[in-house]
Amino acid sequence: MVPRLRVGVLFGGRSGEHEVSVMSAVSVVEHLDPSQYEVICIGITPQGDWVKVPSPQADWTTSGARSVSILPQPNGKGLCYGDGSSEPLDVVFPVLHGPYGEDGTIQGLLELAGLPYVGAGVLGSAVSMDKDVMKRLFLQAGLPVLTYRRVMRRLWEQDRCSVLARLEDHVGYPCFVKPANLGSSVGISRAKNRRQLELGLEHASLYDGKMLVETAAPDAHEIECSLMGNDDLQVSIPGEIIPSRDFYDYAAKYEDGTSQLLIPAPLAPDVTARVQQLALAAYRAVDASGYGRVDLFVQRQDHRVWVNEINTIPGFTSISMFPKLWEASGVGYSELLNRLITLALERHADKERNVTSCKPNR
Ligand SMILES: Nc1ncnc2c1ncn2[C@@H]1O[C@H](COP(=O)(O)OP(=O)(O)O)[C@@H](O)[C@H]1O
Ligand SMILES: [Mg+2]
Repeated sequence: MVPRLRVGVLFGGRSGEHEVSVMSAVSVVEHLDPSQYEVICIGITPQGDWVKVPSPQADWTTSGARSVSILPQPNGKGLCYGDGSSEPLDVVFPVLHGPYGEDGTIQGLLELAGLPYVGAGVLGSAVSMDKDVMKRLFLQAGLPVLTYRRVMRRLWEQDRCSVLARLEDHVGYPCFVKPANLGSSVGISRAKNRRQLELGLEHASLYDGKMLVETAAPDAHEIECSLMGNDDLQVSIPGEIIPSRDFYDYAAKYEDGTSQLLIPAPLAPDVTARVQQLALAAYRAVDASGYGRVDLFVQRQDHRVWVNEINTIPGFTSISMFPKLWEASGVGYSELLNRLITLALERHADKERNVTSCKPNR
């Protein structure tokens, strides 16, 4: 009998998206085939402590939760306990959204520990988390991006008047204000005038030292595509989000439950093909690997397309767009997890080929 792979699922985390991550992890754990995988659930508390728990739904504060860590040495120990004991892990599945999870930090630890992990590496994760660097890479790859300006919190606090004037000159209204490094619409608002822009910047500056102010996409479909692969990429059919509110804010995403997903998105075949081609180019532009979801805007009238963002750890509940798009493209949830784990092992094996000492080229 082939031994089961020991999969460490990481969830929770020190980010505004803690709760969303737990919801995603519940679905991932439920769909990992027990005949192939032994699942080890590792919760990260909002304070950043790591605990091994029986399931993501379990109460992490009970005595059943044990303090654990992964050490930054490639010693094959896997998961380590305070008493010096350890248990091996074959692969880690970070189901963490936002900072300290989707941004390359956890990925860096897993690289140092020599553990294979699902999803983008350090670089792809880090540049995709920062909306400013991400959009600069999109622009450099020739992808269509809405006009935006970066605003540093320090400058905003020093000289509000000139920041507002510059934004009105270059971006105008209506616009969106966003913290650069977050997700799930946390800290994002729409501004139609100077007062709202000011309030939006005040609010976004609570979350990050860097913010973006971006032109609002005029009368557009909100379209998403799922992708997977390391070198050979696959792209799903596109889906459309119909937000239940003014825009797809935190409440529309997770709280009121009445936003709709249209799968497939009602786009003409040539527009679908263009969306898929741009999604693939966006994935490549940020050096993503494993999987990701690319979000775009498509103008209703003339079908003009803009790339909005890539998420390297997209929402993964069973009703989330990422697995639903794969399902509609012929890849069920459990099969999707199998493929992502295989991609993680393949990327790790490829990296293991690199020599880590200097061999003279004679
Ligand atoms: N430029 C824009 N034009 C129109 N809607 C936008 C724009 N930017 C963001 N939004 C709305 O805000 C939501 C969240 O913004 P997004 O940039 O995707 O950040 P997040 O990483 O938090 O998902 C989008 O899904 C969309 O509904
Ligand atoms: Mg988004």
